[in-house]
Amino acid sequence: MSKISGFSKLTKLQKIDWITEHYLSHYPKAKTIIKQYWNIDEALQKLHDEFTENTISNYYLPLGVAPNFEIDGKLYAIPMAIEESSVIAAASKASKFWLDKGGFKTEILGTTKVGHVHFSFSGKPEALKDFFEQVKPQFYKDTASITKNMEKRGGGIKDIALIDKTESLDNYFQLYCTFETVDAMGANFINSCLEQFGQTLEAEAKIYDSFTSEGNYPEVIMCILSNYVPECLVKAEVSCPVSQLGKTQEEAEKFVRKFSQAIKIAEIEPYRAVTHNKGIMNGIDAVVLATGNDFRAVEAGVHAFAARKGQYSSLTHVNVEDGLFRFWIEVPLALGTIGGLTSLHPLVKLSLAMLNDPSSKDLMRITAVAGLAQNFAAVNSLVTTGIQKGHMKMHLMNILNQFEASEKERTEAVDYFKTNTVTHSAVINLLEKMRS
Ligand code: MEV
Repeated sequence: MSKISGFSKLTKLQKIDWITEHYLSHYPKAKTIIKQYWNIDEALQKLHDEFTENTISNYYLPLGVAPNFEIDGKLYAIPMAIEESSVIAAASKASKFWLDKGGFKTEILGTTKVGHVHFSFSGKPEALKDFFEQVKPQFYKDTASITKNMEKRGGGIKDIALIDKTESLDNYFQLYCTFETVDAMGANFINSCLEQFGQTLEAEAKIYDSFTSEGNYPEVIMCILSNYVPECLVKAEVSCPVSQLGKTQEEAEKFVRKFSQAIKIAEIEPYRAVTHNKGIMNGIDAVVLATGNDFRAVEAGVHAFAARKGQYSSLTHVNVEDGLFRFWIEVPLALGTIGGLTSLHPLVKLSLAMLNDPSSKDLMRITAVAGLAQNFAAVNSLVTTGIQKGHMKMHLMNILNQFEASEKERTEAVDYFKTNTVTHSAVINLLEKMRS
């Protein structure tokens, strides 16, 4: 194992030489694999190389499609980038199930994003308050060149408030700033505004009489958006008469009883809630990735929201009243359909085109629906057949690939497992039998 300085300045081939020599010498196939995943179209490869630093190859995920989603009366085929074998099948099953029951209905509950200037001040809070009220217009003036284009699109800075946090941390204050970023995820816009606010705060403080006379000035610690966006919120819902949820009334009632209890368990039991929400994120992340959005930001914000009442809890909820079954999700999703990767990555552009070039609000709706559908499919399986049956069926190909099954072996295995339960050992046994 070796150290290096100036790695980023090496050419791509030099980087590959260095990494294979120093860290992969025990792995003879390394260079072949790295190069196998290069795109033959050099311009396209260069585009991917430049998305990030020190690129040596491309890391593929399957891009699949879950069709038959009726959302607010419109039909969608949803692009999903995901490696987990059963996710797209589950989404497709759920979309089809709800297709003849009115489909999915959605509502945007808010689109506000948040950022902070975190700063310290050890002087009198009243003096800071007076100062803030006096200089507040200057924050808007100093960011006019940044906000001009965003305002043309209907967005901009919504508000700037001074928050005293000294009860939680000595000398800690914030500018709590809210933004509307329309169709952009808006991270660059928000952070540029916040950094300007920070500069304005310090510059104005230096010439503010009561601070200069005391020699006590605010000190900016950092300026950064928050990925916690509880006011950038979307709701998606399905509903139908209980009687439509089983072949007989008795079966339907049993299903609804068990399904509802499963959701309530996820509402009060964090161990279950985490897995429950993980299943929701199977759907959400797959759409977020396919549409070139930041899945780490979405994940962080969603889980913080799930814990907002002090205990981690389910993102989905259920209600049964007067014979009507209602199942819904409320989830914060700060997504963009312009800027970032959306105009750069050809598959992201294709995914957005597949969704008819949605606004960010439409993408919030679609993504929340993918999460709700995923959760419906997972809980449906859990309270009826269990998940392993469907899961292992989808996983069969992965096991066959792992054992380098031939085309003939695959065909025979798929046929055999139409009527037999797929387990890892059952697949191995079958392969051994075929090979002996
Ligand atoms: C697996 O990726 C997701 C599930 O565990 C979700 C759930 O348990 O609800 C099936």
